Amino acid sequence: MSTVVEVMEKTTGAMSSAELAGEQHSRATVGDFTVADARMACREVEVWYGPKKAINGVSLDIGKNEVLSMIGPSGCGKSTFLRCLNRMNDTIDGCRVTGSILLDGQDIYDKSLDPVPLRARVGMVFQKPNPFPKSIYENVAYGPKIHGLTNNRAELDALVESSLRKAGLWDEVKDRLDQAGTGLSGGQQQRLCIARTIAVSPEVILMDEPCSALDPIATAIVEELIDELRSQYSIAIVTHSMQQAARVSQRTAYFHLGDLIEIGETNDIFTSPKHRLTEDYITGRFG
Ligand SMILES: Nc1ncnc2c1ncn2[C@@H]1O[C@H](COP(=O)(O)OP(=O)(O)OP(=O)(O)O)[C@@H](O)[C@H]1O
Ligand SMILES: [Mg+2]
Repeated sequence: MSTVVEVMEKTTGAMSSAELAGEQHSRATVGDFTVADARMACREVEVWYGPKKAINGVSLDIGKNEVLSMIGPSGCGKSTFLRCLNRMNDTIDGCRVTGSILLDGQDIYDKSLDPVPLRARVGMVFQKPNPFPKSIYENVAYGPKIHGLTNNRAELDALVESSLRKAGLWDEVKDRLDQAGTGLSGGQQQRLCIARTIAVSPEVILMDEPCSALDPIATAIVEELIDELRSQYSIAIVTHSMQQAARVSQRTAYFHLGDLIEIGETNDIFTSPKHRLTEDYITGRFG
């Protein structure tokens, strides 16, 4: 995979300013936003905070077994869009979502759909690790308990262990499961939060800058984990690190002021972006 420096040297194919001028009105996304095996399908999604529109008619698929990265300057709407995907925006006063978002063909904004089980199917890992003020064991066991996923203590123990193993944390915590989750290092806490998300068998995992509070070693561990998790889950990750997007994702979406400007294979986005705004961002001229 190319480094950002190589990318800067190789970048070609930007649109002309005339093309750009036309685009400002059409808001058409450059690149194919559909995939053959969509897990989630978003169409013409708009998000409003009171009278202010933060997402401007975004259409985007998230495929099975893929990592999709979402990049773009601060305030362009990455977190807002990510939160639409499991209805976390419902918890924000004055926030309104229009358009359609399907998960396995089912409209997640359907009035009859309960957002609580939805948030188990579409789990979320936040920028700052946020373990519950409970033991390591309870952090992972909590979700399966409230969703009634196991029948007895032995099953729950096995689920806690397998989730911690998948998150690459088991060996580091197996002898201190009764200790506080908040007593772990930042990188361990983030893996604990990933174990907690995995424990309820999600289909999709949303990650909002999951490594921004981690050192390079913990970041490398989490990135390796993301790559392993792809075999079982669909993952959408917001990142400000273009190196990280290049390392972990197969497709990349570039957002700008609430618009999805460009989407494509990660390698193509970083080596031959088609839209001037994408090029400006990845070459460091913007944001
Ligand atoms: N709870 C909120 N109430 C009102 N406006 C909000 C709220 N959250 C976000 N916004 C606005 O929506 C727009 C998009 O914000 P968002 O947090 O989604 O951006 P972002 O791309 O995640 O930025 P960053 O990279 O800084 O995290 C911004 O203009 C922001 O001010
Ligand atoms: Mg954000």
